[in-house]
Amino acid sequence: MTESAPARILLVFGTRPEAIKLFPLVHALKADPRFECVVCVSAQHRQMLDQVLEIAGIVPDHDLDVMQPDQTLDALTANLLTGLGKVMDAVKPDRVIVQGDTATAMAGALAAYYRKLPVDHVEAGLRSGNIHHPWPEEVNRKIIGAMASLHFAPTDTAQAALLRENVDPARVHVTGNTVIDALHWVVAEIERQPELAAGLADLEARFAGKRIIGVTSHRRENFGEGMEQIARAIREIAARPDVAVIFPVHLNPNVRKVMNERLSGLDNVALIEPLDYPHFARLISIAEIMLTDSGGVQEEAPALGKPVLVMRETTERPEGVAAGTARLVGTTASKIVTELSTLLDDNMAYESMARAHNPFGDGQSSRRIVELLASEIG
Ligand code: UD1
Ligand code: UDP
Repeated sequence: MTESAPARILLVFGTRPEAIKLFPLVHALKADPRFECVVCVSAQHRQMLDQVLEIAGIVPDHDLDVMQPDQTLDALTANLLTGLGKVMDAVKPDRVIVQGDTATAMAGALAAYYRKLPVDHVEAGLRSGNIHHPWPEEVNRKIIGAMASLHFAPTDTAQAALLRENVDPARVHVTGNTVIDALHWVVAEIERQPELAAGLADLEARFAGKRIIGVTSHRRENFGEGMEQIARAIREIAARPDVAVIFPVHLNPNVRKVMNERLSGLDNVALIEPLDYPHFARLISIAEIMLTDSGGVQEEAPALGKPVLVMRETTERPEGVAAGTARLVGTTASKIVTELSTLLDDNMAYESMARAHNPFGDGQSSRRIVELLASEIG
């Protein structure tokens, strides 16, 4: 009897969060003889992508190296579409997988669709209901949803959103979010090799006895006035002697310029370079509160029992808010400071948010996705 050839699966990703959320699936597919796993990175992000590839031990088969300083959405999307199309023509995959809502994911899905290749969507069905928040991600994921073959929804809420858009229910599967697989993996790696997350020791010593607020910020819709407000809030809260802010600053120049100008040189604020994933997991674990506009951090902080204040007007991840571990605080300085102060000064308010709660997954999402892919290829 002849064994059938393994199905060739092309995974396309390009930014830090996509890499974090797809490395568990790459590991799972590479370990499974039913699949031949080919990795193409667009390198929409360069350094922040490479940090993840290195920790996860992934060497891409194709690297488009598209990133340009302060890239525009137009040029980025055009380069992605042509580059990814060429890789698909060369690789001739049976299926393509994209994750989330970035320009790389959208262009990857479109290039696959133009070749009539089935494209499967990991983290499908997130919807804020507002095409300007987050921008342009809300539209990117709707575009991907229009073309996807299999929709791997992280939660029941995401599944329901797809069904409301008349997606065939048989094509939608609730798998949990692979970010929790990634988090479990990295926590286990740190337990095995504590030195992987030991690089914050100097900062931890400098801020000993202070209450740490971990911050990240990068959303395009917050550029300009939103970033100014966020910086003002951080300046104000860091004036408290009992508080220290650790802020790994995203490499986007629109973020760095404002934060460097407004926050450099403050005693209680450490502006640092983007952390690799083990160090970021360490930051969440030593922080009392996370303050962020990130998608991924909204999912990870609740999983580690940390209250997360979300600097957005709306969220496509309502599960954390419903569970009481996340709160939307917008991007007005006074509101951010008020919400932070409440958590710092009102123990009951803090305790009600500081519960390990995991609406986003159980760490088995990649395993489920692999089995669903296996059923699909028959
Ligand atoms: C992108 C995604 C966003 C995602 C975010 C995660 C789009 C449109 N945006 O936004 O959905 O939430 O990544 O972080 O897909 N840069 C570097 N080195 C890096 C990464 C970025 O220098 O490793 C700088 C470059 O100047 C680059 C700029 O940041 O041009 C913007 O990168 P880009 O991927 O276009 O946008 P992000 O804001 O990172
Ligand atoms: N992250 C990281 N280092 C940092 C900041 C964030 O490894 O310095 C991780 C974080 O744990 C999460 C992901 O990056 O998994 C979130 O990426 P980002 O906020 O850039 O994008 P988003 O999730 O908003 O799309």
